[in-house]
Amino acid sequence: MKKIALLTSGGDSPGMNAAIRAIVKTCLYYNIIPIGIRHGYKGMVQADMFEMKYSDVDNIIHTGGTILGSSRCLEFKNKETRCIAIKNLLDNCVDGLVVIGGDGTFTGASILASEMGIPVIGLPGTIDNDIYGTDHTIGYDTALNTVIEAIDKIRDTASSHHRIFFIEVMGRHAGFIALNAAVASGAESVLIPEEIPDLNQLVLQIQNQNKGKRSSIIIVAEGEQEGGSIELINKVSPMLEGYDLRPTVLGHIQRGGSPSAFDRILATRMGSFAVDLLLDGQNGLMIGSEGDKLITTSLETAVKLHNTPDLDRLKLLKKMLTRH
Ligand code: F6P
Repeated sequence: MKKIALLTSGGDSPGMNAAIRAIVKTCLYYNIIPIGIRHGYKGMVQADMFEMKYSDVDNIIHTGGTILGSSRCLEFKNKETRCIAIKNLLDNCVDGLVVIGGDGTFTGASILASEMGIPVIGLPGTIDNDIYGTDHTIGYDTALNTVIEAIDKIRDTASSHHRIFFIEVMGRHAGFIALNAAVASGAESVLIPEEIPDLNQLVLQIQNQNKGKRSSIIIVAEGEQEGGSIELINKVSPMLEGYDLRPTVLGHIQRGGSPSAFDRILATRMGSFAVDLLLDGQNGLMIGSEGDKLITTSLETAVKLHNTPDLDRLKLLKKMLTRH
């Protein structure tokens, strides 16, 4: 193996740069030439790639975003487009490929692994933590901490003004961020895509909570079934007359920022392991973490299945709300 290409694709996540750094440094350690592909699969199609040096990954372990850039390349679903991309890799004498991203990225990688004749390894990089085959995705821990910091600040003003805040967090299909942010911030309620919401119960809960506390934090996952924080306020406000209900959509602040120590370490271990797996002749695998160990799952399985949050946390949240 003489040349390994790497790319980041889909929604960026804090720790992607730490993973890029680990892949490049491990390649150089083994005298392999790392080839950076810009803007995800789009760069593969446009042959936008370059040889990476030590200096390219200096001082990036602590930075958010991705120095390679990212995109969601819908044209990659098209076989002819993939053939152009594969030809570009072959023309550049690439012997192995590492992709960092989420669901969509692995769908492309899984097809490439069978079509291409060049081995592919995937690293889970998404703030959503919804990838099957890993306890943690790169970026989730940082995003969760960003969310908690924001909620703590909103809690201060909510309590000063006796307001009910509906705070919308990311997670189009998964409630990991919402559910765990609710537990960690002491929120009064949470709505996640995995659960059918009971609005009457939510209203009762707000009324009960506010007998003593007179302010509430309700965490709303972007993909929950009522349509998000603003929609939700429209639906419950007729039942909560006299209450001051406010929406806050945290948005893309959740995807940026310096990665936590946890994400930096996870990304460094996974990135380096990806190169080791390619050197070992492996193909079509995604690296995951289980406890303190790194494990592998086939990309095919990682695409078919999804991780869902532990719904027992909802019961835990309920216990934390008991007031006497
Ligand atoms: O990367 C995952 C994610 O952050 C989801 O939680 C969110 O729904 C989506 O990306 C937003 O994507 P975009 O930035 O492309 O609108």
